[in-house]
Amino acid sequence: MDMKIRVLERGEWEFFARVVSEAYRIKDREMLKKIFEINLQVQEDGCLAAFLQGEPVGAGCFFIYGNLAWIGYMGVIPKYQRRGIATSILKRILNELTERDVKTIRLDASAAGYPLYRKFGFVEEYPTAIYEIPRIKSMRTCENVSMVKSVDEEIRAMDLKAFGADRIRALTAWINKGAKILKTQGGYALLKMDNIGPVIAEDDYVAQCLIQRAFSLGYRKIIIPEGNKRAVKLISSIGGFAVHRITRMSLGEHHIEKLDKIYAILDFAKG
Ligand code: COA
Repeated sequence: MDMKIRVLERGEWEFFARVVSEAYRIKDREMLKKIFEINLQVQEDGCLAAFLQGEPVGAGCFFIYGNLAWIGYMGVIPKYQRRGIATSILKRILNELTERDVKTIRLDASAAGYPLYRKFGFVEEYPTAIYEIPRIKSMRTCENVSMVKSVDEEIRAMDLKAFGADRIRALTAWINKGAKILKTQGGYALLKMDNIGPVIAEDDYVAQCLIQRAFSLGYRKIIIPEGNKRAVKLISSIGGFAVHRITRMSLGEHHIEKLDKIYAILDFAKG
């Protein structure tokens, strides 16, 4: 099999979109274009594609936040699956990350991806699940939740403390593409597309204030790291329910995060 794997350049979003739309059955090409552009803003050389006779058949991206890296958007066009293409892309990404001195690699694995990552030594951490919020059962009285325009130092510090690495590039990339930020004493939430997250909050009250404000602005989806039992309890108690569950996995050194402050993650590819 004469396969070539290379880094995708800016402007090559169509290769990414072709693979990801078929692998993940996503119809919205414009959304994939936006995601590709955000990916490259976060990690300029982070998205790779595999080509057979010049046609893109597989893809995968990585994002480096200091010693910590994330892998996402691994996908192979269905008719080319089970030929070792994802294995080759993953090998290439892992070599790249080893050369760059990354200590921990994390990802959120689908059922299809799980065996592939296990083969490379990734271990399970906890489930991460998309929840839908059709309505809020009981509203709390909240004050001082405000919309801010950028990631200020306070937000950056809250995020760093909870997430355990500086991912300001990822937050800023989303803001540059129209995401909004809610901020209150002790927490913040990013709002993007139809999704709420990250939600970083010092307790349930702060988290609920952020989520219910996001809900009132029309946001209905949130990805919960289910290792945070309080987050699961909170989202269930306000009327959210899980629609799709996958598995957080990691390879390498244990990464220290403050999971009890993480009520929602950013996305499945970047933490
Ligand atoms: N002939 C037959 N089987 C082969 C093979 C070959 N030449 N080379 C590899 N395989 C087997 C592998 O052993 C592996 O099986 P195993 O896990 O039981 O050992 C299986 O094929 C898959 O490996 P590989 O071929 O490298 O993966 P892939 O190219 O089929 O892609 C996914 C795997 C997950 C990327 C692909 O299924 C996909 O795009 N799924 C939808 C999107 C998704 O869920 N992505 C992952 C998100 S975390």
